[in-house]
Amino acid sequence: MQEPHLQHDHIPKHVAIIMDGNGRWAESRGLDRNDGHREGLESVRAVVRGANDIGIQALTLYAFSMENWNRPKGEVGALMDLLERYLEIEIDEVMKNDIRIRAIGRLDRLPPSTRSAVEEAIEKTRNNRAMDLVFALSYGGRTEIVDAVRKLVRDAELGAIDPERIDEKTFASYLYDPDLRDPDLLIRTGAESRVSNFLLWQIAYTEIYTSDLMWPDFRKPHLINAILDYQTRERRYGLTSAQVNGRGGALGRKP
Ligand code: FPP
Repeated sequence: MQEPHLQHDHIPKHVAIIMDGNGRWAESRGLDRNDGHREGLESVRAVVRGANDIGIQALTLYAFSMENWNRPKGEVGALMDLLERYLEIEIDEVMKNDIRIRAIGRLDRLPPSTRSAVEEAIEKTRNNRAMDLVFALSYGGRTEIVDAVRKLVRDAELGAIDPERIDEKTFASYLYDPDLRDPDLLIRTGAESRVSNFLLWQIAYTEIYTSDLMWPDFRKPHLINAILDYQTRERRYGLTSAQVNGRGGALGRKP
């Protein structure tokens, strides 16, 4: 489906989202925080469909951070239930739309039922190709880097890798999902401008877009607005504007 006003040859390939503001959305309405998460799930459904319609190749959602384990038990349980619910109610739609589900994070910390729901969804959708839907679960950017270093050092000790030959590409191959390209666009809702330990390695050159909307209010039209804004950016990767333009569209593109 063609979206109005978007330049269809300049859609960000990978969009990552920090879905913030569920709690405030609920509290401002005199509701329970978990009501905010429930409504946030509706935004997840809408944005996943929207991203797929628009032709985004990968969508990474920060669904549960390492720090979120410190929230009250009831809220942690509610978030796990919602994730299981999403995977249950959306799986047919996900299959129909050829979406492949993946997950990054310390999944071994998830409750067994949540972990198996995630693993089943990954297995069931593994041959789908239209869009990758990546859930960051029990995820921390620093933890991901530490976990990568652990694996790397183990391989070095085994002699499988020569420390002198480790470069950025080698390091990236030890991250949770080595096949996932770096995000082109990072969206954060909830009127905050923080990275909050999300994809620290991968966002080195990512364009950042913040929205004052609370996540439950963020739907497909707002995703389109974020992409329209992205399409006005010139990605220079440390080069000068003249260099980027001289080199044509390979590195970035003017509106
Ligand atoms: C931030 O809101 C959001 C989260 C901690 C988790 C994101 C969860 C969802 C969008 C709902 C469930 C979706 C899935 C896929 C499981 P906050 O509680 O930090 O909001 P606040 O800053 O207003 O308190």
